[in-house]
Amino acid sequence: MLTGGALTVGGVLTGAAVTGEAPAPPKSTVDYGAQAVPFHGRHQAGVETPAQAHATFLALDLRPDVDRAALGRLMRLLTDDAARLTRGTAPLADGQPELAHVPARLTVTFGFGPRLFDAAGLAAQRPATLQPLPAFAIDKLQERWSGGDLLIQICADDPVTVAHAQRMLVKDSRSFATVRWTQRGFRRGRGMQDDGVTQRNVLGQLDGTGNPAPGSAVFAGAVWTDDGPQWLHGGTTVVVRRIRAELEAWDAADTVGKEFAVGRRLTDGAPLTGQRENDPPDFAAKNPIGFPVISEFSHVARAHVVGDRQRIFRRPYNYDEPPGPDGTADTGLIFAAYQRDIGAQFLPIQRNLAEADLLNEWITPIGSAVFAVPPGCEPDGWIGQGLLA
Ligand code: HEM
Repeated sequence: MLTGGALTVGGVLTGAAVTGEAPAPPKSTVDYGAQAVPFHGRHQAGVETPAQAHATFLALDLRPDVDRAALGRLMRLLTDDAARLTRGTAPLADGQPELAHVPARLTVTFGFGPRLFDAAGLAAQRPATLQPLPAFAIDKLQERWSGGDLLIQICADDPVTVAHAQRMLVKDSRSFATVRWTQRGFRRGRGMQDDGVTQRNVLGQLDGTGNPAPGSAVFAGAVWTDDGPQWLHGGTTVVVRRIRAELEAWDAADTVGKEFAVGRRLTDGAPLTGQRENDPPDFAAKNPIGFPVISEFSHVARAHVVGDRQRIFRRPYNYDEPPGPDGTADTGLIFAAYQRDIGAQFLPIQRNLAEADLLNEWITPIGSAVFAVPPGCEPDGWIGQGLLA
């Protein structure tokens, strides 16, 4: 009261000073910041949600004394924070509640790493294929981008919203966990292009064309887990790979070589056998001298799977850190892929790519982590309740 200017000229206390509540922010005349994605539901938001412009992926390591009961307390707290933040309201004990008022389609998505199940004494509940990926010959993995017990994926169309959510969620995790790694990514700003337009990644490629369509039965069958441990039904798994783009070498290649490596055109993303982005690639088509038009070693040929249940859903973000002193780029993809089952879907594709993918010349995996993403919850529940309660 003494410092806050709470006394009016006439010496009367204002309502805001009495209750300690901030006055309502002025009404916005633009729409994007006010848009909120429902937090509650059968699935966690942030997977099927059209990708927002900004993302932070946080991996936490549980402190040694954190057991199943403590994990339950942590997840109750974080669920409450996330439910409030995603509505555009401040979580409890928010030191800067004004920063919470622009939800900008904020989503907060939680994932459980392999070791969390040991900490909780629930090793038998770990999905069979939720294990660190095997080493691939193409990998140059760094510890500082790999592993982790708890994933918090924060996405929104505004970077201040992401930063504030991160600040609150890290603050409330602090007595339970330490921060293992943080990865920040971005896509085109909301409103820069029509919603639904396939994004270009930092290599300039249209990236996402071959994805199962969000909202479709194919998506549901490929992404939402429906077998294995009961507690994960309606959830999914995510693989987060940090993949560096060897940009100097990429820039030195010509367009024909770049398109041959992927099997699609750079201008419009159409397969080399087609006219439009969404034409299906024809892997059997031959050129006049009898060679496949889309090379069998191209990225799309190696990554293509037959059978809708085998597909993965890619929701990558670009990263672009400051270049080195000699100007070498530090850029690439935070490659997040969601699927029912890592072993049945992600691994065979990754093996195929590691074995022989022309794109490997220009990309290098430098980080790797896997998480089980529990199903969503209703307002009276919390994320992970089916496992931890
Ligand atoms: C920096 C790394 C990568 C880049 C730049 C990249 C780029 C691309 C591009 C341009 C396409 C064609 C357009 C599209 O369908 O989106 C594509 C397709 C695809 N990629 Fe990647 N990719 C990368 C890593 C990976 C990894 C690690 C995997 C899985 C292990 C993967 C799986 C796929 C799949 C499944 C498709 C669709 C294939 C189909 O048409 O059936 N990609 N990628």
